[in-house]
Amino acid sequence: MHDYQAILNTIYQDTKNTEDKGVVASYIPELAHVNRDNFGIHLRTSAGETFGIGDFEKPFSIQSISKVLALAKAMSLIGEDIWKRVDVEPSGNPFNYLALIEVENGIPRNPFINAGAIVIADILVSNLKNPKADFLEYIRTLTNDQSINYNKEVANSEKLTGFKNYATANLLKSFNNLNNPVEEVLDFYFHQCAIEMTCSQLSKAFYFFSNKGSCLQNKVQITNQQVKRINALMLTCGFYDEAGEFAFEVGLPGKSGVGGGIVALLPEKFIITVWSPGLNKKGNSKLGMLALEEFTTKTKLSIF
Ligand code: DON
Repeated sequence: MHDYQAILNTIYQDTKNTEDKGVVASYIPELAHVNRDNFGIHLRTSAGETFGIGDFEKPFSIQSISKVLALAKAMSLIGEDIWKRVDVEPSGNPFNYLALIEVENGIPRNPFINAGAIVIADILVSNLKNPKADFLEYIRTLTNDQSINYNKEVANSEKLTGFKNYATANLLKSFNNLNNPVEEVLDFYFHQCAIEMTCSQLSKAFYFFSNKGSCLQNKVQITNQQVKRINALMLTCGFYDEAGEFAFEVGLPGKSGVGGGIVALLPEKFIITVWSPGLNKKGNSKLGMLALEEFTTKTKLSIF
């Protein structure tokens, strides 16, 4: 048996004073205000025990981490039809890369690069009655926590500066891979990314990916096969052009966001969430990756 609290404490101390903590994202201006010294780690075991250190109860912008929850919701609504519109291959390119969409006729490489996530957002806009309210309710249900909300300033900040996402959505639309108006889909997408959650709330929300598709309240959210697919996508595409590096260093399915969060999990064992807003050049949390590498090395708990 591991003493998880002692392990998290050690990792936190080892990592906290790393000199190069990366750079806080500023291309979404509202994110640039976040203090780079925030650092939290939270772990939830499948048995329901929880452990935390540092700023694990402080809300932050989940950004691209939301793409996994959006995909799960879309899969529960339309199942395998998703794959007619989005592929399942790693892109080897940055999350906001445009050229591949043109070359590959409007079919995004995977649901976690922005182009793929915008197609998933389109599917949710088409299939939810009140997309923004229903998606928020979904996350509140997964976590059993009504306090979770959108940060309107962050959503608005991205709406004012998200030129590449507008380009992406327009390109998808030109290939008939967007059914709703660009404005409407991006309004949903920017809000989805602007949800604020703490490390401990994210560990709860991702529980069903480690529990064969059933959430904390034991309600089936997605099938076993869908869990297999989503975890495979997290491993191969969750960190964009750094997915190989994350598998190499950490060895777990996971997803990052430019708010500096990373959620990773080992099926039927645990979910671990790290938050440190300083990012490396690929847009992934610098200390987050270091902490997770140390965790799987120390505990010998990875899928490999
Ligand atoms: O669309 C964007 O650029 C942001 N809302 C999300 C990007 C993101 O989190 C990339 N992940 N590391």
